[in-house]
Amino acid sequence: MNRRGRFITLEGGEGVGKSTNLDWICAWLDERGIEVVRTREPGGTPRAESIRQLLLDPAPQEPLDDDAELLLIFAARAQHLAQVIRPALARGAWVVCDRFTDATFAYQGGGRGVDMRRIATLENLVQQGLTPDLTLLLDMPVEAAQSRVDQRLGQQGGQRDRFERERLVFFQSVRDTYLARAAAEPSRMVIIDAARPLATVQDELAENLTRQVALWR
Ligand SMILES: Nc1ncnc2c1ncn2[C@@H]1O[C@H](COP(=O)(O)OP(=O)(O)O)[C@@H](O)[C@H]1O
Ligand SMILES: [Mg+2]
Repeated sequence: MNRRGRFITLEGGEGVGKSTNLDWICAWLDERGIEVVRTREPGGTPRAESIRQLLLDPAPQEPLDDDAELLLIFAARAQHLAQVIRPALARGAWVVCDRFTDATFAYQGGGRGVDMRRIATLENLVQQGLTPDLTLLLDMPVEAAQSRVDQRLGQQGGQRDRFERERLVFFQSVRDTYLARAAAEPSRMVIIDAARPLATVQDELAENLTRQVALWR
């Protein structure tokens, strides 16, 4: 009997390649006969995706209070955990998630300046000890990642969402917070230099995934 599935999260700022590599990771695991659930935060269920819309809406009639933002994120997370993540892990599937609670510490804590202890309190309340087995932090300088976002917007169109409209200093503290968390938890969080060519990034992702498969089998 297999132990429960593995919970893998992808983290990093805008434009570092999370979505691109999420597809690739899911295909890699699928090729190895592993059941994969591909999901994202905020969102991942119909109700949680509705909360995501509230969070990303760039033109609200009123500003969104920092605490309201934080509570909405954890409300979406509670729903996602109950409906998708916990059931998938229980049946032995692997969950690969585009952003999770490290992003809350990075964006709301680092970016907005919300007290990290408030975030940790909600983390304990909502997750009750469930944390990722592996977090792949795609890291690169903020300016270079921004130009990737600009390129993507140029190609695919669309508007900048509430977060994408933030300033460079915001994204710099997001990056710094991610890096500090990775330094504090090196056995869970792996820093991947995302400025390199995609094939090089994916070689390093494969190395880390191979290790997880070996631990799991
Ligand atoms: N290693 C890489 N080198 C060059 N371009 C990349 C790399 N990884 C991703 N991209 C491109 O950068 C843009 C942003 O990638 P995306 O996966 O959407 O980032 P994220 O989901 O983290 O915001 C996309 O146009 C993607 O094709
Ligand atoms: Mg993305």
